[in-house]
Amino acid sequence: MGTTTQITLHQSRTIEQLVKGVATSDGAGVNLTRVLSGKLQQRLDPFLMLDAFGSDNPDDYIAGFPDHPHRGFETVTYMLAGRMRHRDSAGHEGLLDDGGVQWMTAGRGVIHSEIPEQEDGVMEGFQLWINLPAQRKMAEPWYKDYSSASIPEYSSAENVTVRVISGSSNGVDGVITREVTEPLYIDIHIPAGAEFSTAIAASHNAFIYVYRGALTVGDTQVESRYMGILSNTPEADGVTLKASEDTRVILLAAKPLNEPIVQYGPFVMNTQEEIHQALDDFRNGRFA
Ligand code: CO
Repeated sequence: MGTTTQITLHQSRTIEQLVKGVATSDGAGVNLTRVLSGKLQQRLDPFLMLDAFGSDNPDDYIAGFPDHPHRGFETVTYMLAGRMRHRDSAGHEGLLDDGGVQWMTAGRGVIHSEIPEQEDGVMEGFQLWINLPAQRKMAEPWYKDYSSASIPEYSSAENVTVRVISGSSNGVDGVITREVTEPLYIDIHIPAGAEFSTAIAASHNAFIYVYRGALTVGDTQVESRYMGILSNTPEADGVTLKASEDTRVILLAAKPLNEPIVQYGPFVMNTQEEIHQALDDFRNGRFA
């Protein structure tokens, strides 16, 4: 783990809106918190969904997500704690555990399952969906598992530690780089009273989700289990987070696609016709 000197920002973004996650259930009865969905998809383009799951009660997660399809976007699963086995229709299989990431490009279609491989203990993590540009929606499906050890980490003089999953933060490149949407995905641990800054391109949409503790951005306090949408202030060159207590937060930013978003469950395309095609392909066994 390297130590970096954090940049001094010219101006920080502010919090435009606070959003409280909604308790819901998905898969075969997994209880989770849906932080981003539906009406926020335009505002946070290209981000389509963020689910936070976290429980030490096996009843909340044990059934997992049996076989289900995806088409037209990417899924990023980040396990903070726990073990999840995934298998797909193309015969790929892998195990995600503490601190690991799976990045999957669903492209023209996969059918896969995501099943917890533990019967007790804590299961905690996030699943993020990032949209694909029109010309990549029917790309060949692809995925890769990244072990916790492979994810670059750095710390600051104030003992802030940062894991860089994708993009680049304070000169440290993440394990994954993506063209077109150029997503930045970092997991930040800020000790009480410490501050953290990172650059964000002014045109990129960005948000934070606090999963432990609380922090402030400018004058706005963001409590645990809240998403803070970061303003697209043209003069702002990044964001500064100041922890009110020992805090853990993820930060996401990406370049908007500015294309029509048509979603039907696990299919996200640009037109209604493409959704009908996806359903037809799925029902007729034309997914990989
Ligand atoms: Co899935």
